[in-house]
Amino acid sequence: MSSKIQAIRGMNDLLPSESPVWATLEAKIRVVFAQYGYQEIRFPIVETTGLFVRSLGEVTDIVEKEMYTFVDSLNGESLTLRPEGTASTIRAVLEHNLLYDGPKRLWYAGPMFRHEKPQRGRYRQFHQFGLEALGFPGPDVEAEQIILTARLWSELGLRDVGLQLNTLGNSAARASHRAKLIEYFSAHIEKLGADEKPRLHTNPLRILDSKSPALQGVIAAAPTLLDDIDAESLAHFEQLQSLLRAADVSYTINPRLVRGLDYYNRTVFEWVTTKLGAQGTICAGGRYDGLIEQLGGKSTPGCGFAMGVERLVELMKECEVAIDVPAPDAYIVHHGDGAMQAAFRAAETARDAGLEIVLHVGGGNFKAQLKRADASAARYAIILGEDEVKSGMFSLKPLRGQGEQATIDLTKAIESIKQGRTHGSL
Ligand code: HAM
Repeated sequence: MSSKIQAIRGMNDLLPSESPVWATLEAKIRVVFAQYGYQEIRFPIVETTGLFVRSLGEVTDIVEKEMYTFVDSLNGESLTLRPEGTASTIRAVLEHNLLYDGPKRLWYAGPMFRHEKPQRGRYRQFHQFGLEALGFPGPDVEAEQIILTARLWSELGLRDVGLQLNTLGNSAARASHRAKLIEYFSAHIEKLGADEKPRLHTNPLRILDSKSPALQGVIAAAPTLLDDIDAESLAHFEQLQSLLRAADVSYTINPRLVRGLDYYNRTVFEWVTTKLGAQGTICAGGRYDGLIEQLGGKSTPGCGFAMGVERLVELMKECEVAIDVPAPDAYIVHHGDGAMQAAFRAAETARDAGLEIVLHVGGGNFKAQLKRADASAARYAIILGEDEVKSGMFSLKPLRGQGEQATIDLTKAIESIKQGRTHGSL
């Protein structure tokens, strides 16, 4: 026997039993994004490697060790499977000059790729819904984005999600904080491990994210960014908080929240739940006022966030969110002379009337076909045998306990199927 080919570790199939949960989530997100005036943008899954190196920062986990990068053997170009969507959004916006007539609100969705160690909530191919607001300098747009996410959680019926906020200040504040961290961690160099030591001079901020038990005391006492924040960024942060309070969105300020990508300045935020174990961040983002200029555009502010679809789906299950499961309206069974042609015609007529019909294919007696009809979750079976073909009538058999079997014409059958049309739930 030949060996079976398996999916790549950390890259998952989405099976039909799961797809209604994804579809419910995706439909709700699309509605809410549209309610806030965001427009969809789609960009390729593969980009030139330089885009991500320049956007995310050379000394970040993603760029250093998590990117799927390969050489295009046809032309020697270095290409990368997108690890996130912000860099590609900005690349596309600049390439198509989308900001020529003013600021833009954009959203995107799709698979992202990071070579991480697979575990619950962390995959190598995962899916994001993200949005970016470009050309808005104030905290009002950040407040709006956060309020949007709060609406989404409530519409989805998610519980136990908390908002963490921080401000990273301007670049001078970050430089001063960085210098203080280098000085501070240098004084504790004996506690730094193999992961942290190389970071000391390249990206000391990331040492704050270290999970090393030996380092937790040192990290807790490290200088915090809030001491260095410039007055303008503080005022911006204050204004954001007052807008959130006015909208009844509660939050916690987490001075240790730094995020793993280099493009952020000022506001950063994460929505975190305790229901999903170690990978509890379901949505994360912030402001990136320098990124557009860094990628060759005119200096333009930006801010946005991305949500992890796999984590949201898990949380929906934890919260026992009711899910619409699409089921066919009817399953047509047919047997005997002339029944197949009549069944094909009846199926098309019912579809013309907007019904979802599964037509039995593959033959078999009535009993076997009715078993399939039942397993399909259809609400009705439409039965066509030689008698029906002769009389031009159809037998309509309710499969979910909604009344008795009746022999009627097709128009009446379609009418009664349409009445009381409901979907099941998971
Ligand atoms: P990020 O924090 O890297 O930010 O990812 C955003 C979200 O994607 C995470 O909070 C998590 O829910 C999900 N996620 C990330 N990595 C994985 C993984 N390996 N497996 C499953 N889910 C994952 C960004 O990507 C930024 N582009 C967000 C942003 C947009 N900032 C501004 N605009």
